[in-house]
Amino acid sequence: MTSNEIIRFLISRPIQAGLVDKLKIRYRPVICPFEKLLSYSKDKTSACDIGCGSGQFCALIARFTSVKRIMGIEINQTLINNAHQMNDEFKASKSFTFEVFDGVNIPDEVGEYEIVYLIDVFHHIPMTQQALFMKQLHRKMRRGATLVFKDIDGGSPLVIFNKLHDIIFSQDLGREMPYGNGLRLLKEIGFTIQSSFRKRMFVYPHYFIICSK
Ligand SMILES: C[S@@+](CC[C@H](N)C(=O)[O-])C[C@H]1O[C@@H](n2cnc3c(N)ncnc32)[C@H](O)[C@@H]1O
Repeated sequence: MTSNEIIRFLISRPIQAGLVDKLKIRYRPVICPFEKLLSYSKDKTSACDIGCGSGQFCALIARFTSVKRIMGIEINQTLINNAHQMNDEFKASKSFTFEVFDGVNIPDEVGEYEIVYLIDVFHHIPMTQQALFMKQLHRKMRRGATLVFKDIDGGSPLVIFNKLHDIIFSQDLGREMPYGNGLRLLKEIGFTIQSSFRKRMFVYPHYFIICSK
């Protein structure tokens, strides 16, 4: 699958949602490296997306990988409603769970999934909660499961563009951690780092940490 296929697929989704949610669904793959993120699911059978938004990444997993069991959790009920709609056409062939949670207590079911994604969610978590959230996730993930952690590099001057983006689209200033600190945090918590790298897309300074429990 190519990034153009991903963009075409998301633009063509028939979804009844607010204008901002529609914009986020359709144009997110232009600024977020979904193609690379999806590649980590290619040999997996189950995937959990924490902070799944309107379920667009879950729909990409359903459409472009052989993953059979997909879970998305979110703090926002409207986004969970969107996620159900986004994934409707795949419900006959794949199993889905979409759930609202309080943003603090991660459901224990996360431990049933082979791969867990945290895509641009970490910087929305209050700073005092960030390390606790990742420790809890480590505790609840099953041994051998993969975590794909993707966030915005707070150490890059380009972080300002993400802050502007978040103020406009989420009314949140964001608490982006520098790449090196993110890497150190996950190591200290006990994750085994498989690979990590930075990747800029337009003005957005992304970083990836692929690790396992
Ligand atoms: C930038 S969006 C990313 C959405 C999706 N992961 C994606 O990449 O398209 C951040 C999402 O994180 C959610 N969020 C904020 N705080 C959260 C928390 N503590 N736990 C889980 N999700 C949270 C927001 O509701 C929002 O949908």
